[in-house]
Amino acid sequence: MDDVSAPATPPAGTYDDLPDHHGLLSAAAVAESEHADLLRRHQASLFPSVKLNFAEPIELRRGERQYVYDADGRQYLDFFGGIVSIPSGHAIPEITDAIKAQVDRMVHTTTLFLIRSQIELAERIRAMTPPKLDKVLFVNSGSEANEAAFMIASLARGSGELIALRHAYHGRSFATGGASQTPWRASNLSPLQVHHVGNPYCYRCPWEKTYPSCGLLCARDVEQVITTSTSGHPAAFVAEPIQGVGGFVTPPPEYFVAVKEILDRHGIPFVCDEVQTGWGRIGVADFGFQAYGVEPDVVVFAKGLANGVPIGGVIATDELASSIRSLSLSTFGGNPLATTAALANLNYIATHNLRENARVVGDYLKERLWGLAERYGTIGDVRGLGLMVGVELVADRTSKVPAPEVAVRVLDGAKRRGLLVGKGGLHGNVLRLSPPLIIDRSDVDAAVEALDGALAEASAA
Ligand SMILES: Cc1ncc(COP(=O)(O)O)c(C=O)c1O
Repeated sequence: MDDVSAPATPPAGTYDDLPDHHGLLSAAAVAESEHADLLRRHQASLFPSVKLNFAEPIELRRGERQYVYDADGRQYLDFFGGIVSIPSGHAIPEITDAIKAQVDRMVHTTTLFLIRSQIELAERIRAMTPPKLDKVLFVNSGSEANEAAFMIASLARGSGELIALRHAYHGRSFATGGASQTPWRASNLSPLQVHHVGNPYCYRCPWEKTYPSCGLLCARDVEQVITTSTSGHPAAFVAEPIQGVGGFVTPPPEYFVAVKEILDRHGIPFVCDEVQTGWGRIGVADFGFQAYGVEPDVVVFAKGLANGVPIGGVIATDELASSIRSLSLSTFGGNPLATTAALANLNYIATHNLRENARVVGDYLKERLWGLAERYGTIGDVRGLGLMVGVELVADRTSKVPAPEVAVRVLDGAKRRGLLVGKGGLHGNVLRLSPPLIIDRSDVDAAVEALDGALAEASAA
């Protein structure tokens, strides 16, 4: 059994004034041994399924705008933003001041009491979404929010069947895991019977067709699955407008209109998982469903809403929201701290026009990445909207064989050059770039320069 008693609990105080336990060791050696100790304690005490990035994982101690700093004070340009969760940037005074003031007043009350900031946030979200969506439920994470969406659709429709896209990710809980792609499905059990349809993933079309001459077989597959594999009365169809964990897979522009027409004919609700795409990240609209020109019946949100403070929720039609007849509450859902943070964050996004910035700077990022693709055959595809940009890495452009080992090397190489990026995709071969929406063209230039160096090194290895 692991020895959890040694070393003793970390010293009190800030990490910056850790005492020198090591006598004659140099400051660098002390830092390294403390870092190794932290890593060992992580492995000893946390679930093994919780993985760390990088061959040499780092501890981030501080953030400021688009930058984060590790335990040695090293600065990184943060192009992953806490997994697509920091739209306004780190430690933004307009947001943190509101949070601090709320902490001083009161952190928590529960939904048994009126919470002014919660009500205001619900009204704000109603104003940002179609009028038919008029009831909000707040929870604490994206998984919990999708659970709630699946629950209300399932209750309203008297059905335990769900249609989802291949390569999707909807969360780590029982029902959401069942709707997600293979590496994230911890269990073969699920409270729902999930039918997966072919993915609108043009770079790897399941039918090996080419857009637009494909005739949108991916959309037509939804009807095929409804009529051949379900009872004909599924609870809902769920999809991310752009798949996040799946590798920023970006469906063709007509996809959701075509699918919605099929769903409407069969009376099936559309649950739109905007956990990664919401709040201006995609530049062209506040939400993915707006960019694709459709109106969902339920919108699921989390991640970036409170700029890093845990929150999640759904907005649904009155009919779907009213399907819960039992008692139901979420102790922390929409608590004063989280909803105050969310309101301050939405204000910051609006007053600094961050959505428009995401559109303009995101287009520039894609242009620069396509420039890199001219020099690196390992870049198979560049895709996404706004500041949600994926770079799919392949062995070569003809075979398109996924190159996850190159992605691992690029992530490490970028980190050594002061840039943090994420990765995703079924094979882990897609770089995910999702920086705070405050970045400008000079940040893009710095990121592309770091990626250039990392790609050169990774390709030579
Ligand atoms: C699209 C999507 N839905 C749901 C979730 C689950 O959110 P959480 O990790 O907050 O439970 C995620 C998380 O990455 C996500 O990307």
